[in-house]
Amino acid sequence: MASVEITGLRKAFGAVEVIHGVDLNIEDGEFVALVGPSGCGKSTLLRIISGLEPATDGEIRIDGRVVNHMNPRERNIAMVFQNYALYPHMTVARNMGFNLKLSGLRRKEIDAKVAEVARLLELDKLLDRKPGQLSGGQRQRVAMGRAIVRDPAAFLFDEPLSNLDAKLRVQMRSEIKTLHQRVRTTSIYVTHDQIEAMTLADRVVILSGGNIEQVGRPIELYDRPRNLFVAGFIGTPSMNMIDATVVPSDTGPMAQLANGQVLRLGPDHRLQAGQAVVLGLRPEHLALGPGGASLPGRITLVEPTGAQTHVTFDMDGISMMAVLEGGLDLQAGSAIEVGIDPDRIHVFDKASGMRA
Ligand SMILES: Nc1ncnc2c1ncn2[C@@H]1O[C@H](COP(=O)(O)OP(=O)(O)O)[C@@H](O)[C@H]1O
Ligand SMILES: [Mg+2]
Repeated sequence: MASVEITGLRKAFGAVEVIHGVDLNIEDGEFVALVGPSGCGKSTLLRIISGLEPATDGEIRIDGRVVNHMNPRERNIAMVFQNYALYPHMTVARNMGFNLKLSGLRRKEIDAKVAEVARLLELDKLLDRKPGQLSGGQRQRVAMGRAIVRDPAAFLFDEPLSNLDAKLRVQMRSEIKTLHQRVRTTSIYVTHDQIEAMTLADRVVILSGGNIEQVGRPIELYDRPRNLFVAGFIGTPSMNMIDATVVPSDTGPMAQLANGQVLRLGPDHRLQAGQAVVLGLRPEHLALGPGGASLPGRITLVEPTGAQTHVTFDMDGISMMAVLEGGLDLQAGSAIEVGIDPDRIHVFDKASGMRA
């Protein structure tokens, strides 16, 4: 186990720079998710950490030592890929011990190490089975067990669940989180799925276009996105974004929408009268009835999910989404009024995109 520190990291392919100076410190034992849209540089960053790809500039330290010049084996890092690549003709025990055998360890030592890790991962009853006789989750545990027996400094995962169907993906996600809680090996997990990042990680790093947009605990990113990119990226369905102008007021901040409607905002913003802003309203923070800042409109779409009802409505040309609790009997075409607590309205400066 080890810390991973990245300083001033840049990567160019030919003349094209794709990572523009990334700084990131990952603590020993931490689980960090790198998340961002396709092409933002997640896999490249991970490959540079692993040693599969050289950095153009900057430093990678593992456990305090600069590793830029080291090959992947010397860095002692375990990559976990989508496809677990277990040997089908070998038992669980032999699969788990395979790398140790290659490194020349004696049978007795291999057996002891495999038994110890198998107990940790609750695989001890399955050691004589072949991969074909295991469930998907058990196979994943064997693949991780095979890596753990080598005592890697860190685990790197590159979208290991993206080829699985939705149900198996959720099951495997829990499996990976449970494993990390047991073994506490430093883990860096790449995904484009913000739910996967939020549910798994101690801290989430949001990347876009080769830059870090924000680093934080999942709840910090949700409660206080530092810019419009993070605000739009975290949360499903995504935040409603409404253009507005700050209006003068003696009774606390207020903003006017394009339709003339004025909304009260929470007290903790740095705003000036006339400032162009974007208001961010999470669909799940809207509730039926006028309470707080009130938003009247006409329903265009009703999507029941069972526990909740997703309602799309039109507010004078602005399309809004509300996630309402319960299975509600609402009809497209009818009027609706929802409210939001002004303290839950996010405010961003329109020009800079930064939280105001
Ligand atoms: N070997 C390569 N040669 C040239 N460009 C590359 C190479 N690998 C990745 N890129 C480019 O670098 C950017 C980041 O890619 P990647 O790290 O794979 O993104 P992600 O994993 O976030 O989808 C993309 O624009 C991609 O086209
Ligand atoms: Mg990738």
